Amino acid sequence: MTSSLKEHWNKKYINDPITQLGWYETKSFPSIQLIEQCAVPKYYPIVDIGSGTSILISNLLELGYNNLYAIDISNVALEKAKTLLNKEQAAQVHWMVDDITNPSSALQLQNIAVWHDRAVFHFLTKEQHRQTYHSLMQKVVMPGGFIIMATFASNGATKCSGLPVQRYSVESLCEFFGDGFRLIKNLDYTYRMPSGDVRPYVYARFQKMQTE
Ligand SMILES: C[S@@+](CC[C@H](N)C(=O)[O-])C[C@H]1O[C@@H](n2cnc3c(N)ncnc32)[C@H](O)[C@@H]1O
Repeated sequence: MTSSLKEHWNKKYINDPITQLGWYETKSFPSIQLIEQCAVPKYYPIVDIGSGTSILISNLLELGYNNLYAIDISNVALEKAKTLLNKEQAAQVHWMVDDITNPSSALQLQNIAVWHDRAVFHFLTKEQHRQTYHSLMQKVVMPGGFIIMATFASNGATKCSGLPVQRYSVESLCEFFGDGFRLIKNLDYTYRMPSGDVRPYVYARFQKMQTE
């Protein structure tokens, strides 16, 4: 695991209250909508990549999803995320501290029905890291399973949390994920940060093609 990257994120989560983070949402919209549209049974595994302190896990538990994985490079984020849930809820979730660009425990995931990533993939500015991400996704998502990607849009910001990001259009997401994954739906979404600034995102839902 890249320790400087882990330190960067841990510092962010130590210093900033959850509600002041530049990606804080009171409700995970449109992620929830896109996940619900996958119409997978509630006991199928769903993974939130770079889950941080997102309210998504809480929202999904409330909807009855009960096989959730939250992965993040920051142990501080995941510890804080647990405080958003009651004890029983927190115990239901599989928490994994791992670096998605150099995975270890994440390699054990299997038959993932929905892979969700909001504002994590866009930090992978090195092709090698993107390829590692793609290979992991290809390995762990079940045939017919879904991936939901939310990244800064091509007209969006060039940095997030002080780090450079790779911006995407639906076309460039398709170019990257299109081999093996079929685009089902995409939408543009303008997110308003706690500071009041706005951040254009692109959301895309793909389905993994069935192999022969
Ligand atoms: C901008 S935040 C988004 C958090 C969450 N997805 C949300 O929408 O609220 C990016 C998250 O990705 C995590 N992260 C960054 N690089 C990562 C990596 N290589 N592996 C795993 N998690 C990573 C960070 O710790 C942080 O929690």
